[in-house]
Amino acid sequence: MPVAIYPGTFDPVTCGHVDIVERAARIFTKVVAVVADNPSKNWAFSTEERLSMLRDSLAHIPNVEVQSHKGLVVECFDQCDATVIIRGLRAISDFDYEFQMAFTNRKLDARAETIFLMPSAKYTYLSSTIVRQLASFGGDIRTLVPAPIHDRILARFTGAGK
Ligand code: COA
Repeated sequence: MPVAIYPGTFDPVTCGHVDIVERAARIFTKVVAVVADNPSKNWAFSTEERLSMLRDSLAHIPNVEVQSHKGLVVECFDQCDATVIIRGLRAISDFDYEFQMAFTNRKLDARAETIFLMPSAKYTYLSSTIVRQLASFGGDIRTLVPAPIHDRILARFTGAGK
């Protein structure tokens, strides 16, 4: 039964990430969305917050699990007994970085195949940085982030809840 992992920082999760997971969940028996608990980035949200937001955003998809992982993606791939690593490709500018990551993962574990999925065209410009920027200047992020976490993101950047 093919299991896929979808690793990312999800700081915070956006509608573009959810779009990718929905597509993957239609292809694979199980999709494990993995929050990187990697200390090298300056997170806006803690691992627990990112995990909780991801869980709430993906709760409508039955064959999805959410977990965090500290360390290499291939270790998580192995622990989940996965056959595929899912990554999203939004634009050609993602390609170099993704190409490097896919080959690095395959070098570390020859079984680690990466499959790239494209989100809906309406999310090709979207990133977590864009969401953080808009939220901190009071811009409308309603169509960019999943409804269950909208207020939590606004609260973090503006102190407002609604
Ligand atoms: N919709 C919206 N945004 C998307 C997206 C989508 N479908 N797909 C990617 N993005 C954005 C993210 O929001 C993020 O934006 P930001 O930079 O503004 O925060 C950006 O693309 C990249 O995010 P992500 O996909 O989470 O990649 P990453 O490079 O931050 O992290 C990990 C990827 C988690 C796999 C990796 O960094 C990691 O932690 N690896 C562990 C070490 C390892 O195994 N190394 C070997 C492999 S190189």
